[in-house]
Amino acid sequence: MNIFIAVAVVLAIVAIAFFLLSFSRRDTEEATGFVARETAKRDKANPTLVAVGSVPADAGASTELALSGRDLERAVAAGRRGGTLAPVGPAPIAVREAYDQDALGVTRRQFLNRSMTGLFVFGLSAFGAACIAFLWPTLKGGFGSKIRAGALEDVLKEIDTTKTPAYRPEGRFYLNPYPTTALAKAKTIPAYAALLPGYEAGVVALYQKCVHLGCRVPWCKSSQWFECPCHGSQYNRVGEKKDGPAPRGLDRFAVTVEGGQIIVDTKAVIPGPPLGTDTTGQQIEGPHCA
Ligand code: FES
Repeated sequence: MNIFIAVAVVLAIVAIAFFLLSFSRRDTEEATGFVARETAKRDKANPTLVAVGSVPADAGASTELALSGRDLERAVAAGRRGGTLAPVGPAPIAVREAYDQDALGVTRRQFLNRSMTGLFVFGLSAFGAACIAFLWPTLKGGFGSKIRAGALEDVLKEIDTTKTPAYRPEGRFYLNPYPTTALAKAKTIPAYAALLPGYEAGVVALYQKCVHLGCRVPWCKSSQWFECPCHGSQYNRVGEKKDGPAPRGLDRFAVTVEGGQIIVDTKAVIPGPPLGTDTTGQQIEGPHCA
């Protein structure tokens, strides 16, 4: 998955660079204009385009007219009065001056091009960031990371007082005490191998998702079991399957205790114990909820 993300990011960067370069080149060409080589050659050969003075026409300098418009009108008017028309030569072709980039500033076309490019890049970046944020595992403090679930002593006291597991929504797990009397049996079950440090510390972290079809399994305070409302699967206090269609016990997470703090590693979901596992022998303690 990470490879796909990396490839997507690289492609996005290449696409952005390509669009920026092509827009920038078009920007410059369209703003300053250019004359084809044949046109420039023809203009050079046209005597009417030769400047009066020493500046060559193809150097982009302004070309002065031999006769101003006002003089021409006067000459025509005088010709009419005298009954003859003053000869008028061919109108000179105006040569466009080369644009002065500093004086020009930003043209409307450049502004629109840059705005569109900016919006495109912004949209693409926002989309890429949203994809990465969605796919990337949470690096700190959420599901998919190591979560500090509180002080062991406080958590166990709270569970004992409320007769309810400590629920940690950010990690999607319940914490329940694991009885020391069940440890010897737990050590004989291969599915529990990675979980023993937590059991030895006296705590188990159970994934909230039912292993049957994925409903969230609530705690039933009266029976002191977990009871799934979807199809009736039931699990004891440490998540071992007791009844219903579930194919195994509740999945769980590895737990360690560091400096008295419970650390639950939600990066890997450890499959629940197989059917028939019963390390605690806990029986139902009241009426069922589901
Ligand atoms: Fe829980 Fe079916 S989803 S029993």
